[in-house]
Amino acid sequence: MTKRILVTGSYGQIGTELVGELRKRYGGENVIATGRKKPPEILTRDGPYYRLDILDENQLHTMLVDYDIDIIIHNASVLSAVGEKNPQLAYRTNVQGTYNVMEAVRILGLEQALVPSSIAAFGPSTPRDNTPNDVIMRPTSMYGVTKVFVELFGEYYNLRYGVNFRSLRYPGVISSEALPGGGTTDYAVEIFYEALKNKKYTCFLGPDTRLPMMYMPDCIKSTIDLMEADDSRLKHRTFNVTAFSFTPAELAEEIKKHIPEFEIAYEPDFRQKIAESWPMSIDDSVAREEWDWKPDYDLAGMVKDMLEKLSKRLGIVY
Ligand code: SER
Repeated sequence: MTKRILVTGSYGQIGTELVGELRKRYGGENVIATGRKKPPEILTRDGPYYRLDILDENQLHTMLVDYDIDIIIHNASVLSAVGEKNPQLAYRTNVQGTYNVMEAVRILGLEQALVPSSIAAFGPSTPRDNTPNDVIMRPTSMYGVTKVFVELFGEYYNLRYGVNFRSLRYPGVISSEALPGGGTTDYAVEIFYEALKNKKYTCFLGPDTRLPMMYMPDCIKSTIDLMEADDSRLKHRTFNVTAFSFTPAELAEEIKKHIPEFEIAYEPDFRQKIAESWPMSIDDSVAREEWDWKPDYDLAGMVKDMLEKLSKRLGIVY
């Protein structure tokens, strides 16, 4: 029997493309896209979209029952930069929202809850090079604090109630479809739009700020692979995933191979401090071992594909 999946935060950077791929695999009517705002056309084209505020637990329960949902992918989240501007909003959305989801999954006996975490769950006292899966986590951003809650709460519900909770710590995600919404790694998407439109970009992180990253097709693959992973192989519930690491200067160099006139300038702002509290590279060998995770794109492959896709969409020849 085909699974029925509900996705929260479905018009976000990841949700938009995740819903599209899930609908291809599971059938449009079996993937319920939800969010708080009026949806973009792409989400209503091949399947249902409903307005859902994750803080409204009654509405959440009703939808899960009415649409006979097996799996919930809870993507609705306030990211790092917005979270620093409004920590209280981040608390409500990320902590209370996840509580509502996990409670609904427990009470209704859903088959699985997949709730993403982030490299932001690590902090300045975490080793920053090749950060292991299981290591000290004392984040200093509100976003990071809420993501540690997500991981520990989900794992507690798994131990205590047997809830099939799964989570991955996404690195910065680079995408050609939807824009990211208020994170510290957003520069790695903005830079492509500016390179194509204006041939120059002013980066809000310094030139040598190294962060782990992945291209959207790998992000979608990792999410669906973990969702479909054989439970008997999982020794962990939360997994590091990554594809490569780079600095803004290295990304600019790679873009220059395609657009030689491209220039980058640097004006670091408050996000620099957030980035410096995160790992520079992470070790995802546990994901590779327990559910065969392997990325398809490296830095060069991602840049080439991003420029091709984006230039086509924006109608810009480079
Ligand atoms: N991309 C996210 C952020 O910058 C990291 O999970 O907030």
